[in-house]
Amino acid sequence: MLRIVNQLRMVPEVARLAKLAPHDPVAAWEGYWSRVRTTGTHGEVLWDAEIGKEAEQYAHAVDTFMDRGLPIIDVGCGNGRWTRWLADRFPSALGVDVAESAIERAAAESTDLPTVDFSTLDLTAPGAGRLLQEEHGEANVFVRGVFHVLRPRQRKDLARNLRDIVGHRGRVLLTETNFRGNPLSYMHSLGARPGSIPAPLRRAIGGIPVPGHFGPAERRAAFPDGSWTVLADGPVTIEAVPMSGRTSTSIPGYFAMMGAR
Ligand SMILES: C[S@@+](CC[C@H](N)C(=O)[O-])C[C@H]1O[C@@H](n2cnc3c(N)ncnc32)[C@H](O)[C@@H]1O
Repeated sequence: MLRIVNQLRMVPEVARLAKLAPHDPVAAWEGYWSRVRTTGTHGEVLWDAEIGKEAEQYAHAVDTFMDRGLPIIDVGCGNGRWTRWLADRFPSALGVDVAESAIERAAAESTDLPTVDFSTLDLTAPGAGRLLQEEHGEANVFVRGVFHVLRPRQRKDLARNLRDIVGHRGRVLLTETNFRGNPLSYMHSLGARPGSIPAPLRRAIGGIPVPGHFGPAERRAAFPDGSWTVLADGPVTIEAVPMSGRTSTSIPGYFAMMGAR
């Protein structure tokens, strides 16, 4: 009961913050990344946590289903933390993001890594997948935390582009947050309380599109069974930066490894 009262008491502050976020998602992401000053465990970016513990959950699927001789494209790469992790496991890794400021930051954090590259691109735009396929050939795809911030129509557009990238040999590894409660209970689970919203969460509420959730049903809607084979999927834990005095912040998530039919 107290939890629900607390959540309701957060409404005015959350509504005031949410009004600040631009309606156009591209402008929102660019604005968000252009204002980021610090990344990493003690930084301002909610999802930019240490990789180790979370990555262990994907290792078996990567080893079993992905052709490690193909390059990999990190779709919606943000500041490139996972692109750098992928570059140690594949011949080359390309991070793409709709926000130019994210790409600039990713490149600045990745100097002296010869097999890592970054590019600004809206992966929901028609033809974006074909463009990447022409430049890089068939490739694997990694995507973390992008589908759950897209509307259903954009999710389908993105999945269609991924199909063009992977061709016959590439695979998609997607991993998304899948918190099934309402936005207020989600914020509460991340440590928000009336009058006290952790800074990384405050920046997200006031800057970027409202997140949804993404589980098996949402995956099936975006990646129809007629076009995709699911090789492995299941629940995972997504790590976010520590907030409200915690040593870590864990969010229920969903991962899927897929190939195109
Ligand atoms: C929640 S962040 C996740 C960043 C990164 N994948 C990670 O896990 O650290 C979502 C990212 O997707 C990018 N993004 C959103 N829509 C996109 C689109 N249509 N095409 C490419 N990138 C997009 C945003 O700019 C942002 O960097």
